[in-house]
Amino acid sequence: MFKRITFILLVGLLAWAYQAARPPPPNICGSPGGPPVTAPRIRLRDGRFLAYMEHGVPKQVAKHKIIFVHPFSSSRHDLIITISISPEVIEDLGAYIVSFDRPGYGESDPDPKRTAKSLALDIEELGDQLELGSKFYVIGYSMGGQCIWKCLQYIPHRLAGAALIAPVINYWWPGFPANLSSYAYKKQPPQDQWALRAAHYIPWLTYWWNTQKFFPKSSVVSEKPENMFSRQDWEIIRNAKVSGREKHKAYATQQGEAESIFREMVVAFGSWEFDPMDLQNPFASNEGSVHLWHGDEDKLVPVEPQRYIAEKLPWIHYHELPGGGHLLPAADGMSEIILKALLIKE
Ligand SMILES: *[C@@H]1O[C@H](CO)[C@@H](O)[C@H](O)[C@H]1NC(C)=O
Repeated sequence: MFKRITFILLVGLLAWAYQAARPPPPNICGSPGGPPVTAPRIRLRDGRFLAYMEHGVPKQVAKHKIIFVHPFSSSRHDLIITISISPEVIEDLGAYIVSFDRPGYGESDPDPKRTAKSLALDIEELGDQLELGSKFYVIGYSMGGQCIWKCLQYIPHRLAGAALIAPVINYWWPGFPANLSSYAYKKQPPQDQWALRAAHYIPWLTYWWNTQKFFPKSSVVSEKPENMFSRQDWEIIRNAKVSGREKHKAYATQQGEAESIFREMVVAFGSWEFDPMDLQNPFASNEGSVHLWHGDEDKLVPVEPQRYIAEKLPWIHYHELPGGGHLLPAADGMSEIILKALLIKE
């Protein structure tokens, strides 16, 4: 009798856990009842739509064509790389910049089969359909910076140059010495350690973990600023340099969080098909350059693993900014410095 009750309870609990862990289906853009399509979009190889937005000088007269990859929980509207740069400088540089909603964000269709490679191919197709030529630049910030590793791995022959700004790291990249990953991992607040563990080891639980109310969830998902920002970041926020973000935040996840931010966490912190530390220099004859920018007071992404990557990949131009936080590209003059380092050949 007792065994039977336990069994029934257990089945009930499992059924409940499965239901609770299963995210609602995405609210597809352009479908009946879904958000409207307002952006220009291209159709990808598998039929998915990708929404984009053009900035800077018209591409017909541009000297440099750049594809910008946006951060976590954000969209084609968040062009943080141009916050501290004047339109005149963009014009002088002859820079055309196109941003796009990554799969599942904004007005781009979800890609439940997303891999490291599929994102690089999406970027290549965007370049081709917009006729950016045989080579273009890629710049990515934060989680978008992590995506640049995928471009370096899968489409290096299409790149004129690449910049990774405060790129998110994956503590499970095998190239990191165990003591370094565990040291960097433990610098995060315990709630973030747990959220990442869930994303890595039990990905199907990621949605539930970050939407439940019993345990503290990821600081980034719950936007807990005290866990995310450094001294310099607060100064930037006080000066309202990053305002306007709120307006676009709802847009970023309008198709639901499961296929935007939570799919992204699972891909970013899952097991990768390659290790960035094994990459070869894509510009062996110096026809382009790869830059990595990081602030040594970044509270969201620890600096030590970046130093290690820079040591392992000596062809990367590593720029460490004393006092820099995670909002580094919004600091005074930084966008200009970053763009010029990438676009102007010495
Ligand atoms: C990890 O171990 C190596 C070799 O013993 C040492 O040089 C390095 O400083 C250690 N790193 C950390 C973050 O403890």
